[in-house]
Amino acid sequence: MKLKRFFEEYFLKKRYIFSVAERDVDFSDINHLPDNLKISFYNIPSASKENFKDLLKQIVPDVLLERYTSRYEQNKNWKLLIAYSGEKPVGCNWILEIPDNSFLFDSFVHNTDHILLGNFFVIQDFRGKGINKLMVKKALKYIYENHKDKIPVFIVEKSNTSSIKSSEGIGARIYGVNYLVKFLKRNIISIYFQNEKFEKAWVLHRYKQTIF
Ligand SMILES: CC(C)(COP(=O)(O)OP(=O)(O)OC[C@H]1O[C@@H](n2cnc3c(N)ncnc32)[C@H](O)[C@@H]1OP(=O)(O)O)[C@@H](O)C(=O)NCCC(=O)NCCS
Repeated sequence: MKLKRFFEEYFLKKRYIFSVAERDVDFSDINHLPDNLKISFYNIPSASKENFKDLLKQIVPDVLLERYTSRYEQNKNWKLLIAYSGEKPVGCNWILEIPDNSFLFDSFVHNTDHILLGNFFVIQDFRGKGINKLMVKKALKYIYENHKDKIPVFIVEKSNTSSIKSSEGIGARIYGVNYLVKFLKRNIISIYFQNEKFEKAWVLHRYKQTIF
């Protein structure tokens, strides 16, 4: 297992590209959330940056905090969903509107026909209760209502069993496979297969990631 992790971190990582059609999602449970659970969009511009950071700090680990906090300035492109158990924030996920074609995000080059869902996070004690599925469904509902022309896409590492299970539990299907070729831990080439056929490859240093 450790060897596999090492190989993935240093040489080659496999990821799945998930998407889901509206007709495959059962939205009934987001209209009847458990009593104590609330899932809502967070109005980023209405908060101060300090409050925004404090909120995220309650959910995500320190390694993610600065990256997510920098989205305060990029809030035109980001939407943030928060799950609360009572008053306590217990999970988050994000929607990223792709601003232009050939846009690099998370080592994958997207076109504007994509809309990204991602950075799913549920705090440890609240995992396995279906909270992520509910948050993703809520995000999908927003996308189907507001971005009918876009394909909702999320990228999950092959080794992330809980995220894969959660995604499949929503009705999402793998429609592509992405390999990241690495050198000294850095992703240098990204290769994309669809229906087991080579589709595209990108040398990553040629693209600049401007949104984090
Ligand atoms: C991935 C993550 C968001 C899932 O949140 P969650 O609220 O626990 O997800 P859900 O409860 O909706 O679904 C989890 C599913 O995985 C299953 N699961 C959880 N851990 C598992 C494991 N180690 N092995 C197999 N299945 C597992 C659960 O049983 C559940 O499946 P089920 O609905 O068929 O029972 C959460 O684990 C997390 O925050 N992980 C760390 C960050 C991360 O990896 N984010 C994903 C990036 S793509």
